[in-house]
Amino acid sequence: MPHLASESWWSRVEMGPPDVMLRIGEAYDRDPRTLKVDLSAGVYRDYSGKPWVLPSVRKAEMKLAAKNLDKEYLPIAGYRDFCLNSVKLALGEESELLAEGRVAMVQGVAGIGALRVWLEFVAKYHEGPKEVWISDPSYGNHEPVLKHLGPVKIYRYYDPKTKALDYEGLLEDISRMPEGSIILLHPSSHNPSGVDPTPKQWAGISKALKKGKIFPLIDMAYQGLKSGDLDKDAASVRLFASDGHQFALVQTYSKNLGLYGERVGCLSMVTANREETQRVESQLRIVIRTMYSCPPLHGIRIANEVFTDPELKAQWLRDIKVMTDRLADARKGLKEALDKTGSKLNWDHVISQVGMFCYTGLNPEEVKRMREDHGVYASTDGRISISGITPANVELVATALHEATK
Ligand SMILES: Cc1ncc(COP(=O)(O)O)c(C=O)c1O
Repeated sequence: MPHLASESWWSRVEMGPPDVMLRIGEAYDRDPRTLKVDLSAGVYRDYSGKPWVLPSVRKAEMKLAAKNLDKEYLPIAGYRDFCLNSVKLALGEESELLAEGRVAMVQGVAGIGALRVWLEFVAKYHEGPKEVWISDPSYGNHEPVLKHLGPVKIYRYYDPKTKALDYEGLLEDISRMPEGSIILLHPSSHNPSGVDPTPKQWAGISKALKKGKIFPLIDMAYQGLKSGDLDKDAASVRLFASDGHQFALVQTYSKNLGLYGERVGCLSMVTANREETQRVESQLRIVIRTMYSCPPLHGIRIANEVFTDPELKAQWLRDIKVMTDRLADARKGLKEALDKTGSKLNWDHVISQVGMFCYTGLNPEEVKRMREDHGVYASTDGRISISGITPANVELVATALHEATK
């Protein structure tokens, strides 16, 4: 259509809907009430409800500043040493796959950027159905991002009746997936449900996926923030490695290093051998070159400084403990405050769920009531970010949950 002098090239562009997740935060910002709480965003907050820059990150930044480093371009695949250290965090220092050169890896623009690169690769090379199965429910941005590959399918995961894993339903759905399907898995601290399979259930899932020849895409966004221990939280990934799955792994350090805006992540893929690794990496580089040319440098330097400096690494482990203790305290505080409201509902899941979120079980109407009547903002699916709860607002949150569900 030629450009007419009287008209803009973009006059036919329709207004897009606002991002569902960000819209809630914007509504919170506009809310004139002084007593209000934003529990919608998936970010960590300290006891006073403020963002927290990890001391390990602050120290790493100071060390880096003292080094007077240049700002040259990174290679297309990113900072190799960072990628290697990132994959080691997931697979373990002693990983056989790494020793055998069977892991292709590139730096990611955090988790979503890594996922997006992988989708471009898979769109070209995956021989199975070009569609991804995600859990019901899953992280809100999964479906919009994965749609770039093809239809997004849903497998059973969370049972609202038991507020626990629907393990039988999950296995049944896996058994129905066509051979070569891709399944997205959350290895620990499932977002948004806070419900993870037990080690035994992971073993069952791994076996079922092997049997069905299903490709695991592992999205690791919360390593360490479940148990406080990086190795423990990586157990399911290591199980998949030892069971011989040829999985893809997406890692982000937005949450466990608090590097949200720095966009620090890694994409890795298990290959058959060293030579295949080279071929896969060469294609990933081509994808990256034509998407954003090469990845950003600053955040990756911070992360790698923390990974490789023993003093900073020890500090990071302490920082992770601070966050997991804070999350456990917030869960306990909320449960106690809920008990005091006289609610007849069972709120045990507030304590039993893991990670950064609590999946309250509230429906959209109840979420709306919390927001309108009490100024307490949750995601539409009833997810609340646990560290948004502070000693100062816990009673308000408990009252809102109780009143909305009476
Ligand atoms: C499961 C999961 N995957 C990926 C992401 C995206 O991470 P990032 O913002 O670091 O790209 C998130 C963020 O909340 C998440 O919860």
